[in-house]
Amino acid sequence: PPDLPRWPYPRWIAHRGAGRLAPENTLAAFRYGAALGYRMAECDVKLSADGVPFLLHDATLTRTTRGLSDLAGPAASPVAGDHGWATLAQLDAGSWHSRAYAGEPLPTLANLARYLQANGLLLNIEIKPTPGTEARTGAVVAETAARLWAQAQTPPLLSSFQVEALAAAAAAAPALPRALLLDTLWDGCLERAAALGCVALVCNHALWDAALVARARSLGLRALSYTVNDAWAAQRLLALGTDGIITDRVDLFVPEG
Ligand code: G3P
Ligand code: MG
Repeated sequence: PPDLPRWPYPRWIAHRGAGRLAPENTLAAFRYGAALGYRMAECDVKLSADGVPFLLHDATLTRTTRGLSDLAGPAASPVAGDHGWATLAQLDAGSWHSRAYAGEPLPTLANLARYLQANGLLLNIEIKPTPGTEARTGAVVAETAARLWAQAQTPPLLSSFQVEALAAAAAAAPALPRALLLDTLWDGCLERAAALGCVALVCNHALWDAALVARARSLGLRALSYTVNDAWAAQRLLALGTDGIITDRVDLFVPEG
């Protein structure tokens, strides 16, 4: 297989900051993961109605925030991307998890960039568009990330399940590294990742075997996995020679180095 360019990222990556140990995609979660030795984290990013990139996994606010009806009335749309940042900034994204995190706000990508760079930490930005906004989200997130990390030694790794979002990211910020996320192997997916200029595949960990690792390598693609929460699965992926493991279990796996 061809020699791959140097890989600047650590093997262990904390999913949504600290898995389930702190409210996902809040600064409190990234602090928690970092305190346990994680030098890199994954986050989910989408756009507010007025185009501010911020952290949230779901399309709606229902599961992981409180306070929308107090701010916007009982008939407010549950879709996060329907609200401007001025509203989203006032929501409580911690109470759903536990009382200790009551009042923890939704972070913007800029908030997270500042915290991580001040602490020498790295990031995988999963572009998670509100359905129907794939190209715009890919372009705005990539352009914003390029600006926020302009002085950084190691850029964030952009990833998405959405090919359209990655294509827009490539056009907006060609220098930022990209990865295609795969939950299943669809027809031509590896070739599509290579054509998008991706540096890696981030697969559901069950998809990886020696043949897929070899195919990825032959196209110049690194092999990463999500979401690996047991030691047996992690052992298998390390034995396959894969490059990165995204985990919720920041309490179980101690990152090396
Ligand atoms: O980026 C890897 C992983 O986070 C993808 O799945 O649903 O946890 O965002 P999900
Ligand atoms: Mg994610």
